Amino acid sequence: MTSNPAEAACLVRGSLLTFHDDPDLTGDKSYTYIEDGILLIESGKIKTYGPAQDLMPHNGHLTLHDYSGHLITPGFIDAHCHYPQIEMIASHGKQLLDWLQDYTFPTEKRFENSDHAERMADFFLREMLRQGTTSAAVFATVHPQSVDAFFNAAHSRNMRMICGKVMMDTLAPEWLCDEAEQSYLDSRTLLQKWHHTGRQSYAITPRFALSSTQAQLQLAGELYAEFPDSYLQTHLSENKQELDQVRQRFPDLRDYLDVYDHFGLLGEHSLFGHGIHLNEREFKRLHESGSHIVFCPASNLFLGSGLLDLHRFKDLGQAFAIGSDVGAGPSLSMLKTLADGYKVAQLQGAQLSPLKSFYLATLGNARALKLDDKIGAFKEGNEADLVVLDVKSNPLLTLRSEQADNLTERLFALIMLADERAIKATFIAGEKLHSN
Ligand code: GUN
Ligand code: ZN
Repeated sequence: MTSNPAEAACLVRGSLLTFHDDPDLTGDKSYTYIEDGILLIESGKIKTYGPAQDLMPHNGHLTLHDYSGHLITPGFIDAHCHYPQIEMIASHGKQLLDWLQDYTFPTEKRFENSDHAERMADFFLREMLRQGTTSAAVFATVHPQSVDAFFNAAHSRNMRMICGKVMMDTLAPEWLCDEAEQSYLDSRTLLQKWHHTGRQSYAITPRFALSSTQAQLQLAGELYAEFPDSYLQTHLSENKQELDQVRQRFPDLRDYLDVYDHFGLLGEHSLFGHGIHLNEREFKRLHESGSHIVFCPASNLFLGSGLLDLHRFKDLGQAFAIGSDVGAGPSLSMLKTLADGYKVAQLQGAQLSPLKSFYLATLGNARALKLDDKIGAFKEGNEADLVVLDVKSNPLLTLRSEQADNLTERLFALIMLADERAIKATFIAGEKLHSN
């Protein structure tokens, strides 16, 4: 065995849960659950997995991480969040547009300082690991150095991350705005530096329709056309006031989505945070373009933005991703995000089942991010990012779990009652980076 842990083979033992498909489509066939299972990891990737009784006898010589009695799932994926907003999380009393002006923009200004950006990137990733999140699509700030700081921190931990420089040449005060041509050049340089460097990917990141001039949106579209395998992330149709202003700014376009469509920002690698107030045409166009909405329930409740129409997604068979949207979302925890997703569904008489919830935070998000050939499920050759969950990590969760007599009840108890004590360990490419 080599001395480099990433090269070494090891075993992880516990109750394994992994998805193959959307539980809303294929029900009990959508997942595999092995009560006493083993993951065999080699060179940071999953070599195989199966019942312990089958795999133990041949592999007893390998290092064993024994989490018997704990639940092990692929690492959680957060499809929309803002690392620079970590220090202004839980800011009181405003809705979107005032929240941006009063809290967000002054906080993001601090990222002109590289040292500050490095400290925050490091803090953010450590917090993510403490919550069992192993990959994310992340907004930086307008400052190119904020992107370097984040990617350096992710790359040094070997975490698979998507990030991009915010493009914003209007709406914010002058001290936080970039300029269209320069934002294109800076984004292009960062994209070429970081896209496919180790496990990093670049997302072209115009903040939203109101914070870019038409010249900037045009250049964002040109950059996306030049690098179609990069990502495009932005915000769409989150807040009613925002919608009114978009209508005033773009009176000749059909609706909010049409603004992004007009500038060539839709496509299979396009991620639109929120999408609360969409019309039928926008739903249809999103679907045919292969773009994804990222449901951000905790943020939508926190900012009072509204409720994503989950009935409509289900009726149309349309997939969506899920994200914390930190710092408008008040927690980095994907379990807490799922708990709020459940409540948003309840408020509309819709359903977000425990299986669907765990699917969304793992394989569902991996699919939306076009990373399901690498992460999101236990599959031979996939990268071994995983989270170990302790269903008896606090007294109330223990009490409730003892009353839960099937898997879905145990999953739901975790979603509603777990806190970070439940994150027993987080592994990145086969290496334990967090242990509780
Ligand atoms: N719309 C434009 N910028 C932002 C942001 O930072 N957070 C949220 N939730 N919505 C936005
Ligand atoms: Zn956001």
